[in-house]
Amino acid sequence: MPTISVQGRPYFYQERGEGEPLLLFHGFPFTGDSFRPQLDSPPKGVRLIVPDHRGFGQSALAPGIATMEAMAEDGLALLDALKIPSAFVGGVSMGGYVAIALTRLDPGRVRGLLLLDTQSLADDEAGKARREATAQDVEKNGVGAVVDGLLPKLMSASVAPAVRARVEKMMRAQSPQAVAAASRGMAARLDGKDILSRFSGPTAIVVGAEDVITPLEKAKVMHDLVAGSTLDVIAGAGHLANLEQPRALAPIIARLIARG
Ligand code: MLT
Repeated sequence: MPTISVQGRPYFYQERGEGEPLLLFHGFPFTGDSFRPQLDSPPKGVRLIVPDHRGFGQSALAPGIATMEAMAEDGLALLDALKIPSAFVGGVSMGGYVAIALTRLDPGRVRGLLLLDTQSLADDEAGKARREATAQDVEKNGVGAVVDGLLPKLMSASVAPAVRARVEKMMRAQSPQAVAAASRGMAARLDGKDILSRFSGPTAIVVGAEDVITPLEKAKVMHDLVAGSTLDVIAGAGHLANLEQPRALAPIIARLIARG
């Protein structure tokens, strides 16, 4: 399976399709397999590149807090290893935070942005405290502590039981250390307003109509920040619209790539 070494750590990725590169980052606490429908059927003309963040899935954990910038640097190392000078970059939820962080680090490598069920806002003080409580809970009691709280909020009421079961299994398989490191990393993230308001590449913003974690109003904030961005609301989907309604997402990705 494809793996590169980032500062001596194995960093795993999956790659499917041919055409314009789209580096896609997964959310919390998942793996690149949360893009299974897109990997199995990549939009025409798109080369999908989907890593597992440090500590998740088949990628090794690095010491310390997994900041969004650190995860973005891993993604940039992957583009270097694949000799890709610039790519479309996107992500779901925490993956969107990483995509924005990558744009902050190296805007010249970002041809366009795909922001799925995510937000540009930083956590407030109460949100940061909740992240720290989650990290400590997971370190003490295992990942079940975060799964039980998050799972009911992730998908729409009408989600297929098989999809729900796959998501739950993926979450329960993650290491408590990785989940704690990423929770603290999300608490430390910066507000993306400055980055998005400066970004001039094509940008697609997508939100599930039933997303209660990063709902429509958060998507609208990003839409207002990025000039010329598109905003699509996907019916019959919650926070994981790419898993619940992959057929609705495919033409949005194809349109974004065509604008590049
Ligand atoms: C995610 O899906 O990545 C998380 O719910 C994001 C977050 O907790 O802010």
